[in-house]
Amino acid sequence: MSGVGFGKAILFGEHFVVYGLPGIAAAIELNTTCFFEKNSDRKEGIFANDLVTGELIKYGEHPEKRLAEVLSIIFSELNFKEKNFHLKLVTNMSVKGGMGSSAALAVSICKCLDKEFSLNLDNAFVNDVAYKVEKLFHSNPSGIDNTVSTYGGLIRFRKKNGGNEIEKIMLKKPVEMVLVDTGLIRDTGEAVDFVKKQKEENPKKFEGIFSGYVGIEKEALVAVKKEQWEKVGKLMNKNQLLLKEMNVSSKELDEIIDAALDAGAFGAKLTGAGLGGNAIILSPGKELQEKVAKACTKKGYNSYKILVGMLGD
Ligand code: MEV
Repeated sequence: MSGVGFGKAILFGEHFVVYGLPGIAAAIELNTTCFFEKNSDRKEGIFANDLVTGELIKYGEHPEKRLAEVLSIIFSELNFKEKNFHLKLVTNMSVKGGMGSSAALAVSICKCLDKEFSLNLDNAFVNDVAYKVEKLFHSNPSGIDNTVSTYGGLIRFRKKNGGNEIEKIMLKKPVEMVLVDTGLIRDTGEAVDFVKKQKEENPKKFEGIFSGYVGIEKEALVAVKKEQWEKVGKLMNKNQLLLKEMNVSSKELDEIIDAALDAGAFGAKLTGAGLGGNAIILSPGKELQEKVAKACTKKGYNSYKILVGMLGD
């Protein structure tokens, strides 16, 4: 049996979602899959291979390893009795940040164990467990990454006390986008803290930025639902300008965005915490998508052609 945790691209609202404003995000084809393997030829215990190093880690050992901590949270939440097995983790995502790899890791393990042991976990439960894992990686996660990773598809998300708002957005036809990796590792928690510090030091400036975002998201929600991609692109560009004002873009992200817009993209912005990580570019139609991906690759960045508005159940 296996379980999949989707990667994500935030189309609107990274950082703003941390403060309870709504965001729009999509599951992407890049994902992490967890395979269950019986462990007959190994010694007793649960083993999993670390996604980054490939190293085989025995659950309960290597306390300094994040994977052991991740498993610990999941087993305790599932009230799981230790058995004898190996979890093989395979990913095609960049684990450097921006694609939601930590959330996808947790979701893939939960969904794999759910299927293998017929635990009958629903998505809401898996989402809660994955959020607990997210807290291990990031100090104050909004929950958008684990939500998209669990449910898939295209989602409007809003963090709320007493239960987050999760609205699924159905498109008639998935839309072509390009995800471009700066190759720079950055830490989500640090980026979130950096925004918080600036917000505390300059509340007036941030009030303006936040109210600007509210208007952008409101229009974007309508435009996304109507699949008015030119409009959505313009709003993504506006969202990017706000993120630049918050100093979470980088020269690499700016270079990617400029190259994509020069190639005819409808809109482009950073996705995730910024300061590196990835950019998401709206490029409807195979031809434009190809052109944009080529322009970004030519600048030396890995580009992934993706379809947004599918995946999930
Ligand atoms: C998550 O990918 C991006 C941030 O909005 C943090 C969060 O939502 O937890 C920056």
